[in-house]
Amino acid sequence: MPEGRKTYVHRFSRSERAVHWIHAAAFFVLLGSGLVLYLPSLAAIGNRAFVKDVHLYTAIAWALALLGVVLFGDRKGLRRTLSDLDGFDLDDRLWLQRHPTKQGRFNAGQKLNAAVTAAFAVLFAVSGILLWYGERDTRFRFAGTIVLHDGLMWISLVLLAGHLYLSLIYPRTRHALRGIVRGDVELQWAREHHPKWVQDVLASTQPSSEDKAEAQARG
Ligand code: HEM
Repeated sequence: MPEGRKTYVHRFSRSERAVHWIHAAAFFVLLGSGLVLYLPSLAAIGNRAFVKDVHLYTAIAWALALLGVVLFGDRKGLRRTLSDLDGFDLDDRLWLQRHPTKQGRFNAGQKLNAAVTAAFAVLFAVSGILLWYGERDTRFRFAGTIVLHDGLMWISLVLLAGHLYLSLIYPRTRHALRGIVRGDVELQWAREHHPKWVQDVLASTQPSSEDKAEAQARG
């Protein structure tokens, strides 16, 4: 869509943006409350039982909100996004080996980030449920559960720092922020970073030869 002299291309639907921001908001609250529960130096912040409730109810709200988007949002579009993130082709493998190949809607690094984020979300949820249930039934109390939950938190923190650097600071990539906030990005930027995707988008919006023939026949 043109805006002034620049041309913009639609990148993320409302449902995709909702999934991203629900996950991000919940992540920050869970990270903050998790750190208060974990680090003795932060233990003075708030009452421990209250912080634990914040942590637990945020996790429940996160799962319900994501379920809500999947049930009531653009499910077909979300399935397409999943397949865009899932497919790993030769260009992706070459890109990871630092060969300058053309990338699709997501580059190989983003695909890996999405896969790790999804896997971590499942592992966080499973270990979190075990921690909660283990307090009620000692048969479900395992030494490894807390190690896993805390380990995931530290690794996520490192990944998040990289993600925030690329989306807020690094000049070549930070334009992506417009896509995840407003839904569209500059066509020129998209061409530089995701040329195979732009090619597909333009091909799908270009009239087919049948459309042209029909238009000619109509005069
Ligand atoms: C203020 C916080 C955040 C900002 C500014 C931000 C920014 C962005 C942007 C700009 C994109 C789109 C990139 C593109 O055009 O393809 C994106 C995608 C994504 N974000 Fe975030 N994000 C934030 C928080 C998070 C958090 C907390 C997580 C998970 C723990 C997360 C996980 C993802 C994933 C998996 C994607 C798709 C793959 C990728 O682009 O790496 N984001 N984010």
